[in-house]
Parts: sequence; C-alpha cells; structure tokens
Amino acid sequence: MANSVTLFSIIFSCFLLRQLVCTNSQNVIKGGYWFKNSGLALNNIDSTLFTHLFCAFADLNPQSNQLIISPENQDSFSQFTSTVQRKNPPVKTFLSIAGGSANKTAYGIMARQPNSRKSFIDSSIRLARQLGFHGLDLDWESPLSATDMTNIGTIDKHIFFKRIICISFIYIHHEIQSVRNKVNYVKDRGLLGYFAWHVAGDQNWVLSRTASQTWGVSF
Ligand SMILES: *[C@@H]1O[C@H](CO)[C@@H](O)[C@H](O)[C@H]1NC(C)=O
Repeated sequence: MANSVTLFSIIFSCFLLRQLVCTNSQNVIKGGYWFKNSGLALNNIDSTLFTHLFCAFADLNPQSNQLIISPENQDSFSQFTSTVQRKNPPVKTFLSIAGGSANKTAYGIMARQPNSRKSFIDSSIRLARQLGFHGLDLDWESPLSATDMTNIGTIDKHIFFKRIICISFIYIHHEIQSVRNKVNYVKDRGLLGYFAWHVAGDQNWVLSRTASQTWGVSF
C-alpha cells in the first residue's frame, strides 16, 4: 500500500477565508499546516516558502459550543502570526479548527442548531482575532452524514468568508517528483493552490521549496 499513501489526499475542508485572494497581491495559495507536537519549532518554519500558514488545531467545547485552544497550545498559537511574519511579513495565517482526531459527533451536534452554530462562529471569529490570525480554517474531515454536510455549508455561509477550492496533500517519503506532479496537476486544472500537511514532514524544506518553485510566482 506504499503507493496509496503517496496519492492525493483530498480532504473535505471548508476554508473560511476573509479578504483572502483580493487583498493578497499574489493569486496563488501556497499553504502549509503546522502543529506544535510535530517536532518543528515555530521559530524554525521557513515561512518564505508559503503564502498561507495554518496553525493546527483549535477545538470545540461541546458544552459551551465555543472554540477553545488547549492550554499546551496557548503560547505558540498566540505567537504564531508574529513569528512567521518575521521572515515573511505578507504571509497570512489561519487558525485551523478540528482536524482528523476531532470528535465528529460533537461537531455534528453543534452544527445542527442555529444557536449553537452562532456560538461556535462568534467565538471562533473572536478567538482568531484575539490571537492575531487573519482567518479561520474549518478542517472537518469526513463529516458523518448528508445533514452534517448541509450544516457545515450553513456555517460557511453564515460566517460569509470565501470558500475556495484548493488541494491538500501529504508530505510523505520525501518524494520530490510526486510533489511536482501534484502541484502541476492542480495548476493545470485552474485551482487556486495547495495546502501541505504538514510542514514538519519535510526535511530541509526540500518538498516545500519544490512545490513553491513548481507553481512559480504568479501575480
Ligand atoms: C464525542 O462527543 C459526544 C457528544 O458531545 C460525546 O457524547 C462523546 O463522549 C464524545 N466522544 C469522545 C471520545 O470524547
């Protein structure tokens, strides 16, 4: 099954982006995810290889339906934007919510009711702003049902950020050619860019640099 892990992982991800493409002079999205326990210190992210960086993950408190950040992530999340902007001032940062190990049932319950959705949306925007992020990314992988899918769409609309279509892929086996193929694939299909999970999965930035150079600079 070695090959299957090198294939695209097209994750349903609903990007709640504010003022994204329009205020950014670049019209490509070169995205990468980072999380604290990935083995790569926040300071060591080479943010020059990205236009957008995603800080993973904030989560839902199912009692209050508010967005929360675990105590061990507090410091790095609040320093995320200023740290990555040191090397690349125009880089945009996003607070990423949920992720693969999130409790899907709890998200499904929250998304069912207007009140709990509102609480989730309001607290998400508030927290993202408080911590200096430019936007939010709801990484709700494999919603459970068609109802969940509809409700997630409602959250997306209510928050009225812009949904965009990119492609996510996973860095694995350090295969340069595979990254090149994926980036060419998305570029050829007129998609807006790519997101890589995750930046610490790269060694010496070889894959991130390959991805960035393969797309090239487009203004
Ligand atoms: C997931 O969330 C549901 C609803 O809040 C809860 O009943 C359940 O115990 C949670 N599961 C885990 C593993 O925390």
